[in-house]
Amino acid sequence: WTATRDKNCKLPMPKGSMGFPIIGETCHWLVQGAWFHASRRQKYGNVFKTHLLGRPLIRVTGADNVRKVLMGEHSLVSVDWPQSTSTLLGPNSLANSIGDIHRKRRKVFAKVFSHEALESYLPKIQLVIQETLRVWSSNPEPINVYRESQRLSFAMAVRVLLGFRISDEEMCHFFNTFQEFVDNLFSLPIDLPFSGYRKGIRARDTLQKMIEKAIREKPLCTQGKDYADALDVLMESAKENGAELTMQELKESTVELIFASFATTASASTSLIMQLLRHPAVLEKLREELRSHGILHNGCLCEGELRLDTICSLKYLDCVIKEVLRLFTPVSGGYRVAMQTFELDGVQIPKGWSVMYSIRDTHDTSAIFKEVNAFDPDRFNEERCEDKDARFHYLPFGGGVRSCLGKQLATTFLRILAIELASTSRFELATRTFPRMVSVPVVHPTDGLKVKFFGLD
Ligand code: HEM
Repeated sequence: WTATRDKNCKLPMPKGSMGFPIIGETCHWLVQGAWFHASRRQKYGNVFKTHLLGRPLIRVTGADNVRKVLMGEHSLVSVDWPQSTSTLLGPNSLANSIGDIHRKRRKVFAKVFSHEALESYLPKIQLVIQETLRVWSSNPEPINVYRESQRLSFAMAVRVLLGFRISDEEMCHFFNTFQEFVDNLFSLPIDLPFSGYRKGIRARDTLQKMIEKAIREKPLCTQGKDYADALDVLMESAKENGAELTMQELKESTVELIFASFATTASASTSLIMQLLRHPAVLEKLREELRSHGILHNGCLCEGELRLDTICSLKYLDCVIKEVLRLFTPVSGGYRVAMQTFELDGVQIPKGWSVMYSIRDTHDTSAIFKEVNAFDPDRFNEERCEDKDARFHYLPFGGGVRSCLGKQLATTFLRILAIELASTSRFELATRTFPRMVSVPVVHPTDGLKVKFFGLD
């Protein structure tokens, strides 16, 4: 709360309000969600100051400002999660690493998301999605799509990425503990009995014990390039880079992988389903594309596994996923700290201040998108190509040296989900109107989105 201006810099401080001592504007932020940032941006401009989660913060919107922050990683800024997030993810996580250590860890992680590795996860991802949609369709009651999408993305992370062979009962306990961990990742860093922070620490310790047991019970990696799962690739990649991972590093990397994919993919899956429901013409156009590629034949998905090349050749599908991630971007922004005083929009960003670059507000205010609030996948087609000069205007996966490592995995997952939905399911909104969306901790519908699924047979 005591962060001050840099007296050696003549530029003014950003405008904004610091709220109350200690809690700052945290309560306003939690209650108002996306409106908190939008209203302050309208009042104070694209660069404004506030005080959230126990520390002063400068929030930054707009492609040019975001470019400067993201391209300044390791020189102007460095990663700086809120204290609660940083402690809960642990010192060995990628999220908490900086400089050379970050570069080395990222290199180790990169192999987990290579084209080759992705191709090997594909059949398992398809299977998890198919099983889930079968369960949804056989349920006579409406499905709470957001809650069940969380289970789906958790299953994808635990069974496909990590290859854990755990019972349904253990899976349920694992899921609930993880949920508790995520719910308290962004909390005031006050370590008192019953505080969110203490609950998060307890959940983290339980998770790490469960993960250690699962890793020890995991079958050994099959040698060669026939990867069993991402954890095997990670261990192999670490060896190749001359640094075998300790059990503590493995546990933290595992939690980080689940964390990075869990809420983001669940949010995007829910928004995808909601938009397909809202826009039947889009769903029909998608089906038409699947028919023209021979994937959908006589109303059924053709036998055989989907291949990465086939999935990536579906241009309209790509436009739909891009548009969902533009309009309902799951991650609202990223946390950094200023390593030196610098300038943005004519104001100073003093050394030591926390900086949050904004993805959602940057999408919402970007001039390159026509009718910015409309859901219009065709804006990304070859003819209109609104994202032609979109670097830093369109950034659902961030940018620069910390951009999302799981981008291809996430988009592949969403594409398979859309293909399976379009070819094997019929689904109807189970409420009279569509729910309102809220944005904390990720974008999701207030009532979770109640949908009735039916099989096609
Ligand atoms: C980083 C978005 C799915 C792994 C990021 C960042 C964003 C993002 C915006 C950058 C944050 C920053 O600048 O601080 C998304 C979205 C997803 C998604 C929208 C789904 C639709 C995934 C998945 C994985 C993953 C499935 C892996 C299993 C990571 C990792 C980083 C990251 C490891 C940290 C990179 C680093 O610090 O160098 N993601 N993500 N993400 N993401 Fe994702």
